[in-house]
Amino acid sequence: MSRHLIRPFREADLPAAAGLLAERHKEHRKRHPLLPADYESERLALVEVTALWESERASGAVALEDGELTGYLLGAPKQSAMWGPNIWVEAAGHAIREPEHIRDLYASAAAKWVDDGRIAQYALVPDDPELLDAWFRLAFGSQHAHAIRPAPTTPPPEYPGLTVRRAVRGDIAVLAQLDLVLPQHQALSPVFSAGEMPTMQEALDDWEESIDDPDYATFVAEYDGRVIGSSIGCALDKSSSHSGLARPDNAGFLGFAAVLPEARGHGAGRALGEAVLQWSADTGYTSVVTDWRVTNLLSSRTWPKLGFEQTFHRLHRLVGY
Ligand SMILES: CC(C)(COP(=O)(O)OP(=O)(O)OC[C@H]1O[C@@H](n2cnc3c(N)ncnc32)[C@H](O)[C@@H]1OP(=O)(O)O)[C@@H](O)C(=O)NCCC(=O)NCCS
Repeated sequence: MSRHLIRPFREADLPAAAGLLAERHKEHRKRHPLLPADYESERLALVEVTALWESERASGAVALEDGELTGYLLGAPKQSAMWGPNIWVEAAGHAIREPEHIRDLYASAAAKWVDDGRIAQYALVPDDPELLDAWFRLAFGSQHAHAIRPAPTTPPPEYPGLTVRRAVRGDIAVLAQLDLVLPQHQALSPVFSAGEMPTMQEALDDWEESIDDPDYATFVAEYDGRVIGSSIGCALDKSSSHSGLARPDNAGFLGFAAVLPEARGHGAGRALGEAVLQWSADTGYTSVVTDWRVTNLLSSRTWPKLGFEQTFHRLHRLVGY
């Protein structure tokens, strides 16, 4: 019989929770040294857990053994309608000595979440097999991957027949077309994403405005003199989905890539990804981050081939069915 006690999270739990988070992150960095070192410090881990605790309508639970905090779970809703009636456990939202006990913490915290109607649930979980297994036995499944790799040290090879170059104003029409390719693909089976689909006019207007933005490096791949794909690199801090413990220092970001359906599978995606990797190295970034829907059969197979290793799993559960 376990001796641990579960009760709601209180403000006074913050320092001990930060200690557990710093411990978890230290272990995580043994597998992924490129994750930010700072959060191995309890002081910075405390900043992250405190920010979560202070976010609107945050709530959670803690596990105690002989008076010592051995685990915590904190969730808070995101305002965006795209996630449904949601609750999110962010990268700093849980840490636990005994992975199995996350199930007790969830049982306690989720009662309120579901009472509040928050049935679309998301948790960002480090790639720790035991912890993931415990979450899986809470009916969570894998939705999204966060991944990292070092910046390359040698330039990419050339691919016969394929030219990758920086995009220019004359490419705007095809760039706008390619902008629609990703949401169109992700709306299909087996992704079924409800992501926003811009109209062609919105995509064109957006490119007219942003094509010269120096913060974004846009590449196009040409085959037989025709543009068949694009990719975009930028600083990782432009992405709101990678923050805190999931935001490595000095990292570039492969933020977008798409190849026209009829031109896929011939190496253009690899060449476009490698262009962003090389741009990241040339800009002075030490690592490159990307993310993908794990149900996207194309990106989930392409990016690991380019050396990306998964660091966090975004898990998802829809309660009530
Ligand atoms: C993802 C995408 C950009 C990849 O471009 P692509 O031209 O199809 O990919 P490539 O032909 O360059 O293949 C890249 C690597 O992935 C592998 N790969 C691609 N598709 C694969 C498949 N169906 N099964 C197994 N491996 C596959 C290739 O073998 C290759 O690895 P290798 O060079 O080591 O052999 C493209 O498929 C696409 O536009 N998909 C829809 C939009 C999208 O998902 N964008 C990414 C958003 S995160």
